[in-house]
Amino acid sequence: MIVESLVWHSEADTAQFATALATQPALRHAFIELQGDLGAGKTTFVRHLLRALGVQGRIKSPTYAVVEPHEAPGLAIWHFDFYRFSDPREWEDAGFRDLFASPGLKLAEWPEKAAALLPPADLVIQLQVQPDESRRATLTAQTTTGAALLQGLKMEMKT
Ligand SMILES: Nc1ncnc2c1ncn2[C@@H]1O[C@H](COP(=O)(O)OP(=O)(O)O)[C@@H](O)[C@H]1O
Ligand SMILES: [Mg+2]
Repeated sequence: MIVESLVWHSEADTAQFATALATQPALRHAFIELQGDLGAGKTTFVRHLLRALGVQGRIKSPTYAVVEPHEAPGLAIWHFDFYRFSDPREWEDAGFRDLFASPGLKLAEWPEKAAALLPPADLVIQLQVQPDESRRATLTAQTTTGAALLQGLKMEMKT
């Protein structure tokens, strides 16, 4: 398990990190969990990442649908928000199992609400609002894919 800690002073820092992450080849088949309270900046981060990956048009938030699919050039992306997820049967009914098994990028807000069903995340990004409104981002790699993402990011952010 590799852990990194960053501070994002403003949304511009969030966007810069998202842009660096978007260049990582390992992202193309990864599952990333976003943890943090309401307003921590999970959706904001996802929006910047989708833009950096080339998703165009209006980016809808998945709160009511649980999952919102997106298409970037050569990459399928699924943005989950499990905030209102309560019925495990929905997991089977909505075909989430197949979705997690298929290639592409999966991003999940409120993963703790579906914890028993989700596969282990490659990367966990935990966001905390600091007293000065900046965000502390704690990145935890839990798989070799996650470790590759963190290694690649370190190289990218040095330059
Ligand atoms: N790094 C940051 N610094 C300051 N404000 C931020 C930062 N990231 C996001 N925000 C702001 O905080 C709010 C986060 O909202 P949102 O992304 O919807 O949170 P969540 O999805 O975690 O509930 C937005 O208003 C956004 O502009
Ligand atoms: Mg959100």
